[in-house]
Amino acid sequence: MNLRHDMLNHGVNVVTGAHEGRKGGLAVAWATQVATDRVLICVGAQSTTRELILASNAFAVNVLRRDQLDIARRFGGRHSTEVDKFEGLPTHVATTGSPLLDGCAASLDCEVQHVYGEGPEKLIIGRVVAAEFRETDYEPLIYRESDY
Ligand SMILES: Cc1cc2nc3c(=O)[nH]c(=O)nc-3n(C[C@H](O)[C@H](O)[C@H](O)COP(=O)(O)O)c2cc1C
Repeated sequence: MNLRHDMLNHGVNVVTGAHEGRKGGLAVAWATQVATDRVLICVGAQSTTRELILASNAFAVNVLRRDQLDIARRFGGRHSTEVDKFEGLPTHVATTGSPLLDGCAASLDCEVQHVYGEGPEKLIIGRVVAAEFRETDYEPLIYRESDY
C-alpha cells in the first residue's frame, strides 16, 4: 500500500547537482542519514536534477529552515530545465561541483556511493565529503499532510 503523506514527518531539503555547465535542484522530503558519513536520498524519475546527479556522481543536501518555505516551493514546483531556480539566490560551488545554497542552515556535499532501484524512484546513497554548518539553533521546515 502507498503511505499517506501524514504517516511520517519529514524535514525538507533542497538537493542540488551540476554536470557540464548545467545545474539543478529539487525539494526533497525523503532524505535521511544512514551512517556516520552517509546520507540517503530518494529521487523519482520526474526529477531532471537526478540526471545531473547520476552523470556527475555527486549531489548536495541543503537543509531548509522553517522560514524558507519560499525556497521549498521554488525547488519543488517546477523542473530545473524549465526555469532557473537559483536566480537571485546566493550560492557557491562545493568541492564536488554541486551548487550550495548560502542561505540554508547547513549544506552537505556528497559523492554518490550506491544507486538502488529498478522502479521510478532511485535510492541514492552519498558519502559526505564536506559539510557546512551555518546555523545550529533553528526551526527546521517540516513537510506533512502534503503541506508544511
Ligand atoms: C515538500 C516537497 C518534498 C518533495 N520531496 C521529494 C522527494 O523526496 N523526492 C522526489 O523525487 N521529489 C520530491 N519532491 C518533488 C520534486 O521536488 C519536484 O518533482 C521537482 O519539481 C523536481 O525538480 P527537477 O526536475 O528540477 O529535479 C518534493 C516536492 C516538495 C514540494
